[in-house]
This record gives sequence, C-alpha cells and structure tokens, in this order.
Amino acid sequence: MQVLIPTRDHFVTAALADDLERWVPKLWRRKLVAGHWAPVSHPDAIARMVEEFVEHVGGQPSTRGLQRAKSGAVGFTGQLVVVTGAGSGIGKATAQAFAAAGAEVVVADIDATSAKRTAAEIGPAAYPYAVDVSDEEAMTAFAEEVAAEHGVPDVVVNNAGIGLAGSFLDTTAEDWRRVLDVNLLGVVHGCRAFGALMAESAEGGHIVNISSAAAYTPSRTLSAYASSKAAVLMLSDCLRAELADKGIGVTAVCPGIVATDITNTTRFAGADALDQQRLRRKATATYAKRGFGPEKVAAEIVRAVRSGIPVLPVTPEARAARVVSRFAPGVMRRLARVDVVR
Ligand SMILES: NC(=O)c1ccc[n+]([C@@H]2O[C@H](COP(=O)([O-])OP(=O)(O)OC[C@H]3O[C@@H](n4cnc5c(N)ncnc54)[C@H](O)[C@@H]3O)[C@@H](O)[C@H]2O)c1
Repeated sequence: MQVLIPTRDHFVTAALADDLERWVPKLWRRKLVAGHWAPVSHPDAIARMVEEFVEHVGGQPSTRGLQRAKSGAVGFTGQLVVVTGAGSGIGKATAQAFAAAGAEVVVADIDATSAKRTAAEIGPAAYPYAVDVSDEEAMTAFAEEVAAEHGVPDVVVNNAGIGLAGSFLDTTAEDWRRVLDVNLLGVVHGCRAFGALMAESAEGGHIVNISSAAAYTPSRTLSAYASSKAAVLMLSDCLRAELADKGIGVTAVCPGIVATDITNTTRFAGADALDQQRLRRKATATYAKRGFGPEKVAAEIVRAVRSGIPVLPVTPEARAARVVSRFAPGVMRRLARVDVVR
C-alpha cells in the first residue's frame, strides 16, 4: 500500500499514519508537500505518484520517490545528492560523506577527469558529470539530464567556487565578472534549475550553498571574493523564506580556512607570474599549517542537511568571526585593514 501524506494537512495529520506498519507490512509512506486539499492543489503530483506505484506493483523497477518512501529506509538510503565542484576539496569530501551515509551521488565538476576520479573512488553509486556552473544553459541541461537519468535530487550542494585575492584597485572588471559568474551566478543557476524540479515534484528536498566566512569578514585583500560570498549568504536567506512553502530547506555553509587545492588556483590580482607562484605557495603553506581538512566540512554539511540548519559557520575562526561581526563590527573593520596576503 502506498500512503500519500500531505505534510501541511491540519485536519488529517501525518501522525495518523504513524502506526500503519502494524496492519500493512508492505508499506510505502510518500511525503507530499501540500495541504488538506492536495487533490485540488497538486493533481499532477498525485497522479504521478499513483502511476509510479501502479507501474511498480505491475513489475516496473522502483522509482526514486518510491525507494525513498519504502518503509524502513534509513539515513540517506535511496536519496540522490548532487554536488558541484566535486572533483576536489570540500565538494569531493561532501560527495564521499553523503555516499558513506547511503546516498547515490552525482559528482559534477568543470574538470571531467577529476569528476570521474572522485566517482571511481566512491564506487558504482556515484555518477560523474562535466559541467561549468557559470553556464546557465549547460546547468539547465545538466539538471534535466540528472532528473531523466537518476530522478529529481533530494539534496543539491552548490559548492563549485574559485578564489580571487588582491587589492580592489588591481582587480579588473574581468576579474569581477569571472568570480561573480562562478561563485554567485553558479549558485543561482544551480538553485534555479534544481529548485524548480524539486518544487514541481512536491516531495521537498534540501539545497546547500557554500558561502564562506569571508561573507561576513571584510578584508582589504578579498573585495571581489568576499562580495560574491556575501551575496551567496543573502541569496540563501531569501531563498529559504521562499522555498519553505515547498518543503525545501536551504543551508548556507560558511567555512573558514580549509586545506584544499583552492590556494593553488586562486588568482592574485596585480601580481606578476613569479609573484603569483610565491603567493600561492605561501597561502597553501598557511592553509596546510591551519590543518582543518575538507572531510570535517563535509561531515558538518551532512549534519546541516539532517538537522535543517539555516546558516552553518565551520571552523572555530568562522564561528568566532560570525559572533564578532554581529556584536562588535568595529573590530572587524579594523582587522579588515591588515594585509594578510603579502
Ligand atoms: N578552502 C577554503 O578555505 C574555503 C573556505 C571558504 C569557502 N570555500 C568555498 O568552498 C568551495 C569549494 O572550494 P575548495 O576549497 O574545495 O576548492 P577546490 O579548488 O579544492 O575545489 C573547487 C572545485 O570546483 C571546481 N570548479 C571551479 N570552477 C568551476 C566551474 N565553473 N564549474 C564547475 N566546477 C568548477 C574545480 O575544478 C574544483 O574541483 C568554494 O565555493 C570555495 O569558495 C573554501
């Protein structure tokens, strides 16, 4: 038996279906993000769920929605998690963490080779894709392809991002465009393409956007990067308010200093080729010395999705900066003057 449970029904509450396994051993408990008049407000979603169930009983394989609804499913079993920028660092560790928790993972990166490597390391439940998050058309096509091949994802982690440091006066308009295209619009494209699919499915879900502690830590050397991350934090706050009605949670993650490859690819505006190498080496050494690995961020991301945490600073310095920025912003303004790059 498949029971459709409207999550916003104030008259026939979900609790009524709590004890059903006693009477129905083969039970599919399907969440429908709708109110009491679900048949009127969501006829297409209900028709799809009924069709999937009837076809399954008739011998077709279980759809993702049915797998998720199967009574007894634990953790992220049967769930699909999409991670962008999963070829390296935090994205790779996040894909690994969700896979370890039972999910199937879509491993996307602009670099096809690293996406394939991550997927191969995880195993057969990981599917590699090459996509540039800053390309709107490619992201729409990517979301449609994922939905057609694997189903609508339960969790989307918009993680892909690039570093950019240096003084504002050395940062060109082209630098700004690139960092905003990837760090901000890449997240926007991911939220739009997958958010629309999740909303239409009426089965809820969760979007995780990787911002940064830089979002609330002003710095004379990070004007473009910090602005892009502050925008991701605000976007997440706005989106959370809108998608709450659809049963879709939104988390903004704000890591501090995490040892990944980002320091080897960050562009230092105003530095010549030689200086660029020196600054990358210096930043990489500093981040390595800090010793906070991406797997710790990944574990926090999984926890945030499980608990529906809205904003999650990760690392002690990210948490401290969040508190100081709220209660003593003058201190942050003074610290912003320190040139931490050179
Ligand atoms: N490492 C840190 O200290 C730190 C701190 C705060 C926030 N972050 C953020 O975490 C996220 C992950 O960074 P990381 O440290 O793991 O870096 P990383 O360089 O190790 O990984 C980033 C991945 O994103 C991919 N990528 C870059 N541009 C892309 C694009 N246009 N489309 C698709 N994929 C693209 C890269 O190929 C790479 O595999 C970024 O958004 C970054 O800004 C990192």
